[in-house]
Amino acid sequence: MSKAHVGIVMGSDSDLPVMQGAADVLRQFGVPFEMSVISAHRTPHRAASYASTAEERGLKVIIAGAGGAAHLAGVMASLTTIPVIGVPLMSQLQGVDSLYSTVQMPSGVPVATVGVNAAKNAALLAVEILALADQELRRRLREHRESLAAEVERKNRNLTEAGSGPALPDRA
Ligand code: RP5
Repeated sequence: MSKAHVGIVMGSDSDLPVMQGAADVLRQFGVPFEMSVISAHRTPHRAASYASTAEERGLKVIIAGAGGAAHLAGVMASLTTIPVIGVPLMSQLQGVDSLYSTVQMPSGVPVATVGVNAAKNAALLAVEILALADQELRRRLREHRESLAAEVERKNRNLTEAGSGPALPDRA
């Protein structure tokens, strides 16, 4: 297995059902990744050593998912200059606490925050970052966008064939 380019970290194994979505997308695009449970609050020293050695270990992007007082992505970002993508996870406060904790970083230390539970989008954003220096990944991203459009067209055809809605004009 080649060296990981993306590190997926999450605050607890209870985050795995959502964060697995990021792993699935990276696998689909053929991007090597590693996955770890690391908590900003329960294992702060491990969080610090993970982030501060990330670049020298060959990681190019970190995806960090956490719920509640979700400081994992921010702690990662404070100790590395590779891009960190935060995934706020659904919590007892419906993810609002996780979202605010992840997105509201102080000026100077950014975390690129995706939507609540949007682990798949986090992985797609990681692929887009890696694709800046990788033509083959760019090609796969274009193909992926085309497949999304084809899926919408298919849904529209199904709807109009079933006579349940007005036909949309053909795409230009
Ligand atoms: C956060 O607390 C984790 O990221 C998780 O979303 C939440 C609950 O963790 P567990 O109590 O299930 O370990 O730190």
